[in-house]
Amino acid sequence: MKILVSGGTGYIGSHTAVELLEKGHEVVAVDNFSNSSPEVLNRIKRITGKDVVFYEGDVRNRGLLNKVFDENNIDWVIHFAGLKAVGESCVKPLEYYDNNLYGTLVLLETMREHGCKKIVFSSSATVYGNPERLPVDETCKTGGTTNPYGTSKYFQEIMLSDLYKADNDWTVVLLRYFNPVGAHESGLIGENPKGIPNNLTPYVAKVAIGELSEVSVFGNDYDTLDGTGVRDYIHVVDLAKGHVSAIEGIRNVGVYAYNLGTGNGYSVLQVIGAFEKACGHPIPYKIVGRRDGDIATCYADASKAEKELGWRADLNLDDMCASLWNWQFKNPKGYDK
Ligand code: UD1
Repeated sequence: MKILVSGGTGYIGSHTAVELLEKGHEVVAVDNFSNSSPEVLNRIKRITGKDVVFYEGDVRNRGLLNKVFDENNIDWVIHFAGLKAVGESCVKPLEYYDNNLYGTLVLLETMREHGCKKIVFSSSATVYGNPERLPVDETCKTGGTTNPYGTSKYFQEIMLSDLYKADNDWTVVLLRYFNPVGAHESGLIGENPKGIPNNLTPYVAKVAIGELSEVSVFGNDYDTLDGTGVRDYIHVVDLAKGHVSAIEGIRNVGVYAYNLGTGNGYSVLQVIGAFEKACGHPIPYKIVGRRDGDIATCYADASKAEKELGWRADLNLDDMCASLWNWQFKNPKGYDK
């Protein structure tokens, strides 16, 4: 199939492009490089031996999207393009709503004009807010998000669901990611956060390489096994494969929501311990106060994706840390030479 991947050079987009190409699909990608680099395209080629048909630009650019659909017979769209930093979204809400909501709107309108009505949307466990029960399954209440990034994901899910209600020709797949971490085993592609990372594992990796001095652990007084926050970390390659399973497995119109997680929760200290094993030396850390907006525990019930798509996460926390370390070690400056 021919798949349009928006945000195709980003962290999850690039890993998904690789898995699609490895499965024999054709990939057309659009990216404005706002949080990625043209070098990613070379790396994808090195891994797969295949080219991505690439268009540089923004999904809010209607002219560009029209050209992409005019020049390519797209079967499915996988929509990653968007802004994703929680803290930044609180400071720049309008930029987040403009990029994430308006970008999706322009994409959907262009798809409709070209008769392409199948979309996989890059959603997040953040749509569950403070989850009403654990493990979180897809019937848990959504909404109650606490920041513009999360709210934009929630609104986009509603926008897509309303579209299906109005036009039953659409196939909409909402993939709710838990905590994507790790990198491709080649060490050629990985997460490349700009500036100081906000998320735990990229931060730990930068401490491990000596770029940052110590990890701040946000609270050790939660009601968890060791008092630190527990999350469902999922290897980005497993996550990428979930997208391939969705486009290959879903044959009927409708709105489908799936959790993509492992079903296991690990604490911050367990993650640091696993990373120490991967890099072979201790990682300095200190306990500080809780971070605003954090919850104690979040992990998925991912059985629906297994039952309906035959997808299951195979890689464990050690694999995630080893692959992240491999990427960090080989590319201390990310994609910058
Ligand atoms: C965050 C976002 C979520 C997003 C996800 C993936 C928030 C509230 N949520 O999830 O919307 O989908 O990233 O990008 O930001 N921690 C530390 N020290 C650090 C960093 C994190 O102790 O320097 C802890 C946190 O308190 C948490 C765990 O590590 O318990 C994971 O944090 P993080 O990687 O930021 O992910 P989430 O907050 O779960």
